[in-house]
Amino acid sequence: MWNRLFKRAPREVMDLPVFQELDRSRLPAHTAIIMDGNGRWAKGQGLLRTAGHAAGADTLKKILKAAIALELPALTIYAFSTENWKRPPVEVDYIMRLFFNRLMQEIDEMDEDNVKIRFIGRINELSPALQELTQKAEDQMKDNTGVQFNVAINYGAQDEILRATKKLMQRVQQGELSPEDVNENSFDDCLDTAGVPPVDFLIRTGGDMRVSNFLLWQSAYAELWFTDTNWPDFTPELFVEALKDFGKRERRFGGLENK
Ligand code: FPP
Repeated sequence: MWNRLFKRAPREVMDLPVFQELDRSRLPAHTAIIMDGNGRWAKGQGLLRTAGHAAGADTLKKILKAAIALELPALTIYAFSTENWKRPPVEVDYIMRLFFNRLMQEIDEMDEDNVKIRFIGRINELSPALQELTQKAEDQMKDNTGVQFNVAINYGAQDEILRATKKLMQRVQQGELSPEDVNENSFDDCLDTAGVPPVDFLIRTGGDMRVSNFLLWQSAYAELWFTDTNWPDFTPELFVEALKDFGKRERRFGGLENK
């Protein structure tokens, strides 16, 4: 099936022994990843923190390829939070240049892989060059039908919720929506992730067990999965292990059983 969908067949993942054990009927509709531990990985290797981010970008490409091979409907990654601006300017500068360069390099291949990209967060506060590139990427891939790949940059969930609330209030004020129609669905429509299913699986690497202001509304019923592995050491194999684990979870959504 994926041979039909993707020009470049990402065989690497399909050949993994763990892949054969995966129940593909029990994959998450929307997987979110907090890619943590780049700095600690670099320190452990005696490298600068920036080298950790470069290695993290390499890992991201492998995981996206895995998501493509697995035909995951949606993947959202936390690339830069609204709080990350507090880091030293050289690090912030490096990360922004990394986003620009990697995106520039990867646009055509992602397009060939039928990926549909979206950037979420306060994109209008990024440099004009990066904004232009994110727009170009979204435009180029807008008709693709493969993995919905959301990249959160300058993103904070509380900020997103407040922006969505303002949008909703405007719609009510302008008479497009009546107050009675303010519900989960109309609120969803005002989020940056509008149209993407709720997060059902949230992965965090790097050993910390918190959600750090990521997709708080969307993750209301998400299954959480943590690993001590730092993001640059995260592998497609570990990703498939995590997905296997997801398949075994009993999801009750507040009810008594999921049968
Ligand atoms: C967290 O590690 C990582 C980040 C804040 C940056 C994430 C960026 C990438 C993985 C680069 C690739 C992304 C794209 C879109 C090309 P940390 O620095 O917080 O690590 P630490 O907790 O060990 O200090």
